[in-house]
Amino acid sequence: MYYRTLLASLLGLSVSPLHAQSTVPSTVEACKACHGTQGISRNPTFPNLAGQKAEYLEVQLKAFKAKDRKNDFMNAIAAQLSDDDIHKFAQFWSSLPATPAPQSAAAAPAGPAIPSRMTMPADFPKGFTVYQTESEDGAITRRYANTVAWKAAKAGQPLPSGSVLFQVSYQAGKDASGKEVAGAVQSYSSMESRAGWGNGIPVLLRNGDWDYAVFGPDGKRRDQLNQAPCLACHKPQEANSFVFTLDKLKKATG
Ligand code: HEC
Ligand code: HEC
Repeated sequence: MYYRTLLASLLGLSVSPLHAQSTVPSTVEACKACHGTQGISRNPTFPNLAGQKAEYLEVQLKAFKAKDRKNDFMNAIAAQLSDDDIHKFAQFWSSLPATPAPQSAAAAPAGPAIPSRMTMPADFPKGFTVYQTESEDGAITRRYANTVAWKAAKAGQPLPSGSVLFQVSYQAGKDASGKEVAGAVQSYSSMESRAGWGNGIPVLLRNGDWDYAVFGPDGKRRDQLNQAPCLACHKPQEANSFVFTLDKLKKATG
């Protein structure tokens, strides 16, 4: 019994045979990326699912699917679930203990559920072109594309492996004549597509081969960032290579 318990906790499985593991849809990894491996979320704004009433969970998932209940992440996830998946997920998460045994809490992995693999291009913004600038609330946002992304967008093709986009937020400053100019960098949000990267991402969250990252003003990657929300929110943009501003990129002259 001890080894079974230990093994199950290491694998992030529940122990009781009543939990009917075999009926859990294989896409459960995506839920775990936000709601925790045991249904106990590590993010203060994401709810726990473990031990919640199954009927309630089922009703909520159907409401997200129908967009009667609105949430960018859950609308994107539930849109991909069949009623059968929804039923099975509701049963599964409900069956987990609302208060997990200490050893399963200890087995919860440290670090973000889906860590980034992107690195900051050493000479950014060299090799990138600005395709959009926005100014709002004392901040200026510039969106940059590298040559691979730029060329594909212009040719009306999907953005291929090697594409990199940056969304850079700057403090708004004023020059001597009072004109608004971009001041210090506040943060870099970015996405990069590399052949094969998608294989490491749960299918319900997968954005082709895109990976997301946030870098601080010093160019250091925020390694605690969980990519799951980035992936979930950009997922419905599949027809646009997962890029919200693809139209701007296509039309930009630079
Ligand atoms: C990108 C993060 C993310 C992923 C992935 C995700 N969820 Fe959620 N989920 C949320 C957030 C955030 C909420 C709260 C939504 C709100 O505020 O209305 C939520 C709410 C829910 C709720 C309603 C809970 C309640 O107390 O009302 C259910 C049920 C649920 N999720 C199930 C799932 C299932 C099943 C999966 C996997 C198939 C999943 N979620 C994947 C972030 C996520
Ligand atoms: C709540 C939904 C949402 C989440 C979560 C989200 N994004 Fe976005 N993202 C957008 C929208 C919408 C745009 C288009 C620009 C705008 O309206 O701000 C965008 C634009 C971008 C762009 C410019 C390319 C494009 O798609 O237009 C990058 C790069 C980007 N986001 C990176 C990230 C990263 C990194 C994360 C996670 C830390 C993230 N996003 C999370 C909604 C989201």
